[in-house]
Amino acid sequence: MDARAELQELIQQAREHLLYFRDLGLTNIGEETTPERMALSAIGSEEQAPAVLAPMVEQNNPEPKILTPPIQPEIIMKKESVPAATSLFLADDAVEPLIVTETLEDIRRDLGDCKRCKLWSTRTNIVFGEGNPNAELMFVGEAPGADEDASGRPFVGRAGQLLTKMIEAIEMKREDVYIANTLKSRPPGNRNPEPDETSACIPFVYRQIATIRPKLIVTLGNPATQGLLETKVGITRIRGTFQEYPRIAGIKVLPTYHPAYLLRSPDKKREAWEDLKKARAFLRGEI
Ligand code: URA
Repeated sequence: MDARAELQELIQQAREHLLYFRDLGLTNIGEETTPERMALSAIGSEEQAPAVLAPMVEQNNPEPKILTPPIQPEIIMKKESVPAATSLFLADDAVEPLIVTETLEDIRRDLGDCKRCKLWSTRTNIVFGEGNPNAELMFVGEAPGADEDASGRPFVGRAGQLLTKMIEAIEMKREDVYIANTLKSRPPGNRNPEPDETSACIPFVYRQIATIRPKLIVTLGNPATQGLLETKVGITRIRGTFQEYPRIAGIKVLPTYHPAYLLRSPDKKREAWEDLKKARAFLRGEI
């Protein structure tokens, strides 16, 4: 490809990128500031363009995966580092960490054709989760909806498409991250998960986290946030604040709004965008 064609392609990519921002509700991309103009001013010059538009370099973590046992890992948590509401589950003293040997495939096999709660009788497919098994960034949502139930893949419906745009807006690709839910089966009519369903299913996402050991988990909405942080604090209060993941020392949790909520309340997209920028800055080591 010649230099001119390459530049055209970069401008096109930048344009699409800026359109994501507009989709996310960012208002400074106005009529007088077209995506093309912003792309050009962001690029600066032909020489700078590749650097400005380069995707984030994926960093695989070569260290062994060290953590406490997946189902009772509360013991590694330092009590003072989580909100008071969560301390109920925490032991006073840290213990020797263990090496995790199970893979995502092992966890999927253990899940099997799950009948641990009543949702098996109404679901079409189990939605285990998907993405990079070495992801530094993980997203955890609530439960599959109709599209996810039909396809067996997480976040593929309208909310999922918005989530994909949110990921791309922070210059990552969907394949770079890992996406899972607190429930692996769809609650009928997308009703809220019931406590027995959550307690039967949430150990599987804890195990996925333990195996992937991301640097950061972005929880989407109340059920995921409350389930992972073992807290009753609501999303409006806790969103945009870095929390310690109670089960494994060194993993941060950043709660934000669920994309389905953002579709219903577009005025909240700006706050979600602020949260995503924090996630990006954290992963880049800037904060
Ligand atoms: N909402 C979720 O919480 N998860 C999905 O996978 C899809 C929609």
